[in-house]
Amino acid sequence: MKLLIAEDDNTSREILTAFFSKYGYEVTAVDNGSKALEIMEEPDSPDLVILDWIMPEIDGLEVCRRIRKNKKSQLPYIIMLTIKGNTDDIITALSDGADDYMSKPYDTEELKARVDVGMRLVNFILKQQEAERKITELFTEKELLLKEVHHRVKNNISTIESMLRLQADLIQDGSFRHILNDAAGRVQSMRILYEKLLPASDYKNISVKAYLDDLITAILNLFPSKRYILFKNEIGDYTLSEKILIPLGIILNEMITNIMKYAFDDGQSGVINIEFQKHDSEYVLKVMDNGRGLPDNFDVEKSAGYGLMLIKLLASQIKGSFSIRNKNGVVCEVMFNV
Ligand SMILES: Nc1ncnc2c1ncn2[C@@H]1O[C@H](COP(=O)(O)OP(=O)(O)OP(=O)(O)O)[C@@H](O)[C@H]1O
Ligand SMILES: [Mg+2]
Repeated sequence: MKLLIAEDDNTSREILTAFFSKYGYEVTAVDNGSKALEIMEEPDSPDLVILDWIMPEIDGLEVCRRIRKNKKSQLPYIIMLTIKGNTDDIITALSDGADDYMSKPYDTEELKARVDVGMRLVNFILKQQEAERKITELFTEKELLLKEVHHRVKNNISTIESMLRLQADLIQDGSFRHILNDAAGRVQSMRILYEKLLPASDYKNISVKAYLDDLITAILNLFPSKRYILFKNEIGDYTLSEKILIPLGIILNEMITNIMKYAFDDGQSGVINIEFQKHDSEYVLKVMDNGRGLPDNFDVEKSAGYGLMLIKLLASQIKGSFSIRNKNGVVCEVMFNV
């Protein structure tokens, strides 16, 4: 254990050096405050310092203050030696960073006992610092690993999406081609979320707006014949976890895909309103179009295809509810609490 003794009196310094060396301490001894500060600025400086208060150049109290200002940690443990034994001086020394004090003349055995107390604390702090360093290291490692996993998942999802689209392009039969393209659209909504997850550091708080805006643009790009459709988005600035955003993205994908497929004829103009807001504790995703509306005799229980079934399933997965109805077109709503 390294110990610094700053004491201008030659005899006391030599006695203390010999005494603590005998107990196995690695002692550095200096005779003034500036030398003490120099030693404390070196790497691997002592963890325990015995400082005489009255010393030439810079006094012990000032050395103590400067050490605390530079180090900004609980170490080193500082014991002040002082002939200034009045209460005010002691309070000043302790409040300016000293951990303990001894009035001169002192008993060397008592000083040794106080140094041992200091060393116990030093060892505890060093162990704690090491544990903190290990935790930070493990945490950084885990973050990197998670990023790597997300990266690979994103790449795999991208590959699945590309394979579905490629196969769809090769199929002559229009309805089969649609089925494969719709499947690719569902995969796309997951891929876009993973793109958002990659730069994120907090997977529990991902911007809903940033994700849904990108998703809407990507879906729109898949329907070039519907370029006269105007999107009006009112997506609140909320953050949600990936657990919620994956089903939410697929739900929105189904709603918009249905509008693109059924609400308007090719080349026809139309408006789609997408709202995502929070009312009290409830989130509401509302998608409205001003297209032709649901077919006559539409019954959500009987007329649903895979898309609406998927919406209902995912809505219940996030413990929410789903409704679809005609109102100047179609209004689709999913409500859920987090
Ligand atoms: N916005 C809309 N405007 C008009 N009709 C709609 C709209 N949304 C849904 N529909 C009607 O609801 C039906 C069921 O939709 P659903 O998404 O469940 O199946 P789908 O789109 O036909 O097939 P898929 O399984 O590929 O999604 C559609 O066939 C369509 O008639
Ligand atoms: Mg559908």
